[in-house]
Amino acid sequence: MLIPVSLITVIATVALAQEPGLPAGCVGSYPDPLYCSDKGGWFNPNPDKCFPLDGNPRPSEKVYIQDESNFCLNLPNRNSVYLNQAYYSQGRKPTIVDAEGYVQSYCVGGVPPGALPMPAGAIQAAHVIKNFTIPGQRYMQIWGYLNCDPLNIECAGTAADPFYGAGQYDSGAFEHCGKEPYSGVNQDKNPGFSVYYMKAGSVGDRPGFCMRVCEGDHGVGMPCDISSPGQDVKGCATVMPGLVFNEGFSFMDVANQVVTTVTKDVPTTTLASTSNTVVSQTVSVSSVVNTTTPSKSASHPLASVGSFITLICISFFF
Ligand SMILES: *[C@@H]1O[C@H](CO)[C@@H](O)[C@H](O)[C@H]1NC(C)=O
Ligand SMILES: *[C@@H]1O[C@H](CO)[C@@H](O)[C@H](O)[C@H]1NC(C)=O
Repeated sequence: MLIPVSLITVIATVALAQEPGLPAGCVGSYPDPLYCSDKGGWFNPNPDKCFPLDGNPRPSEKVYIQDESNFCLNLPNRNSVYLNQAYYSQGRKPTIVDAEGYVQSYCVGGVPPGALPMPAGAIQAAHVIKNFTIPGQRYMQIWGYLNCDPLNIECAGTAADPFYGAGQYDSGAFEHCGKEPYSGVNQDKNPGFSVYYMKAGSVGDRPGFCMRVCEGDHGVGMPCDISSPGQDVKGCATVMPGLVFNEGFSFMDVANQVVTTVTKDVPTTTLASTSNTVVSQTVSVSSVVNTTTPSKSASHPLASVGSFITLICISFFF
């Protein structure tokens, strides 16, 4: 595939910079993007020259979900050497997919070592489901609305942006040329949950996010399936059945179906409506670099050209 000259220039420029926690010269924890695109964007038999010095998963890239008031998401790292050179210093903001390989966990509530506090006002709504009904397939799920301004990220979907202001992060391993291969789940907060995936950015007429942390692996049919074809370019409501975006903060354990609603003050500047809005997502894949490669390809910024999220919004008035 073609790689823009400007991108090669940026990669070459930042190659000499130093990112904390990574070996000298490394600016992100991910497989060499040029190598991966040469090899078809998936299997990578070589050891990682940028294997992090601070562990796997990296303390700065661990997520967790306990309830609607205690969780961490991986989001573009505002302190990233690469993102500063390629975006912030030029007055630009990265999208979620632009920042793959340069993430940082930002937390609401408990902030474990290596994580940072979520910027105030970033989380506009959050709903959590605990599903421990099937041993070996237990998971926690969170979703809600974002205000992308305090996060310094671009979430507006435009026709020029093939990802429509969205993207996926996950704990897919280095061997598969995934990004964030050294991100993972905080074992103090979600013991035994080894994998996660999250999507964020445009989920319709306003930005949002969804994430699961899971037992087991990323295999097909598992709660944190990232292996089904096209899974990483599908919307939240498609990959997390039953998910509905709406206002507020809540927690539900599927074992007893009891919903606990929590009242919080959130800045209302970006909230457009007092009605309950049900957002369902469908996804169209406008173009795919190599449809025979496994689904993880679309979470690789150079190999991913692809999805945009189309929204159908239905307002209910009570
Ligand atoms: C809970 O998780 C199991 C295992 O993945 C799944 O089969 C079931 O549909 C989930 N229940 C709900 C209510 O989502
Ligand atoms: C697409 O990916 C498959 C599987 O990795 C590979 O065999 C094939 O050569 C690739 N095709 C192109 C055009 O890159």
